[in-house]
Amino acid sequence: MKKIRIGTVGLGRLGRRHAENIAFRLPSAELTAVCSIIPAEVDAVQQEWGIPYGYNDFAEMLKNQDLDAISICSSSTEHCRQIAQALEAGFHVFSEKPLGIGMEEVLSARQIVEKYPGQIFQLGFMRRFDPSYVYAKRKIEAGYIGKPVLIRCYGIDPVSAIDGAIAFAAKSGGLFLDMAIHDFDLSRWLLAAEAKSVYAVGACFEYKEFAKYGDVDNGAAMLQFQNGAMGLFYAGRMCAHGYHVETEVIGTRGSLRIGTVPYKNLVTLANENGVTNECVGGFLERFETAYLNEMEHFVNCILTDKKPGVGVIDGVQSTAMAYAATESFHTGKVVYLD
Ligand SMILES: NC(=O)c1ccc[n+]([C@@H]2O[C@H](COP(=O)([O-])OP(=O)(O)OC[C@H]3O[C@@H](n4cnc5c(N)ncnc54)[C@H](O)[C@@H]3O)[C@@H](O)[C@H]2O)c1
Repeated sequence: MKKIRIGTVGLGRLGRRHAENIAFRLPSAELTAVCSIIPAEVDAVQQEWGIPYGYNDFAEMLKNQDLDAISICSSSTEHCRQIAQALEAGFHVFSEKPLGIGMEEVLSARQIVEKYPGQIFQLGFMRRFDPSYVYAKRKIEAGYIGKPVLIRCYGIDPVSAIDGAIAFAAKSGGLFLDMAIHDFDLSRWLLAAEAKSVYAVGACFEYKEFAKYGDVDNGAAMLQFQNGAMGLFYAGRMCAHGYHVETEVIGTRGSLRIGTVPYKNLVTLANENGVTNECVGGFLERFETAYLNEMEHFVNCILTDKKPGVGVIDGVQSTAMAYAATESFHTGKVVYLD
């Protein structure tokens, strides 16, 4: 069986998980090279997992003729440049979200991706590969809730991760681009509609450190879509009970909800403190299956020469929504998308 040989850049919080999935959980893939500007990360992965090639310079990795594809899990500020370099060097490319952190750069990334139609490009909107979201999408398409009229999305990171969020703030692009972008993409996918206008608000309610980057710890946005559907979005960084990702779609004949309570598992504990359920602690736990499924999809698309379900247009459109929300938050005005 042919194996797709992948070189991955970025071995941080998520990059290491993707690398691990490629190395050990995908029979059709092989983790052939790893790259990070932090030498200790590269050394650790090479030694622990026996990976043949290690680099601290991305351009050097791209010279490796043993590779078929590149997986980009570096900081968001690096994505567009590395996508262009990898495509120009002839590789298939998976890139983590966001596509980029500026409208200009995401539009140029779109041009580059479209210039190389023979190479697979997939963007890391993994929620589209989560079994519950896939099930919900099928139910909507099959007409179980009638015509969708409103989507409500909550994306709240655990307060236990607040130090990391503050450290990451300079390179994240802000709350709407870093966090709400997943929900913006989901809304386009679940409603099968593009956004028309947005009004956003937010503030630093507890963690003033975000203000230095023009960012907030809690934000909300109200959107209208081109087909008239409505959207309510809330993103926050201070969830006390765990990692809370919740989505509701209300239709003309019913509604559905995903993740209303972010249960860790099916265990309900009863004791002198009452009855409790533990919650998922973070994105790696909640979307464990989705991260694996999306990488499997990428590898299968290469093997069968099929266009991935999530592409560069999804990156451009969701970035435009996030930018419009950020602009609305800064100006206090409704922003209309082109
Ligand atoms: N899809 C999701 O659910 C999800 C979740 C978390 C993070 N992300 C995205 O994944 C990306 C990485 O996030 P993270 O939390 O793992 O970040 P991180 O800061 O933990 O890790 C970043 C990694 O990239 C490496 N790196 C940065 N610039 C580089 C360069 N020029 N060349 C080589 N290596 C470089 C760093 O050395 C580090 O290994 C971000 O774009 C983030 O938005 C997506």
